[in-house]
Amino acid sequence: MVKVAPSVLSANFADLKSDLDSIRTYGADWIHYDVMDGHFVPNISFGYSILKDIAKVTDLYLDVHLMISDPMKYVDEFIKAGASLITFHLEALSDEKAVRELIKHIHNQGADVGISIKPATPTQLVEKYLDDIDLVLVMSVEPGFGGQAFQTSAIDKIKALYQLRGHRHFVIEVDGGINAETGALCKEAGVDVLVAGSYVFQSPDRQKAIDLLK
Ligand code: DX5
Ligand code: ZN
Repeated sequence: MVKVAPSVLSANFADLKSDLDSIRTYGADWIHYDVMDGHFVPNISFGYSILKDIAKVTDLYLDVHLMISDPMKYVDEFIKAGASLITFHLEALSDEKAVRELIKHIHNQGADVGISIKPATPTQLVEKYLDDIDLVLVMSVEPGFGGQAFQTSAIDKIKALYQLRGHRHFVIEVDGGINAETGALCKEAGVDVLVAGSYVFQSPDRQKAIDLLK
């Protein structure tokens, strides 16, 4: 069954604990934590200190999506704060050597590693890392904001990654504009994890929203 990872970007920060508790009760599998630096993307969200507090009050897998220009500089802080998975953007790194160093650096500290690609980045660019990572995050919107419309180009990328997987263990995650309809298309294409921000947190019936995604 597909996993659902609600994005706390759309949660109510004045009442975060009860939002986290509610989605756990309704069957959320992971917590997706969107970090934005105002440089890699034109928006600022939150850093590692809030993650540290979240890690204290939940036992869910903490899926940290770094939309930042210099992931190597900050990754240790996020791991110390409790990240289970660190996903960085391929576009943020200058060359293959930097990507390989970062993968190793994160794994050495015991966290899982994901690589994310923006809508305009072809899946071919991530292929050479597939033996060494735990997750590929296909962006189905331009990263930076919740509540945008799903871009269908993500479907072919999910299909391609699904075909490529073979014996490898990485999972395929999609992020941006996910609701019951777009989530179903991604599931058909072979996705393993659906990130959903506004669809879950702004729904009047979060239980139903999560059920419809699964
Ligand atoms: C976008 C973020 C997403 C965002 C998804 O840059 O990476 O995780 O929160 O929000 P929705 O589901 O509302 O598109
Ligand atoms: Zn995200």
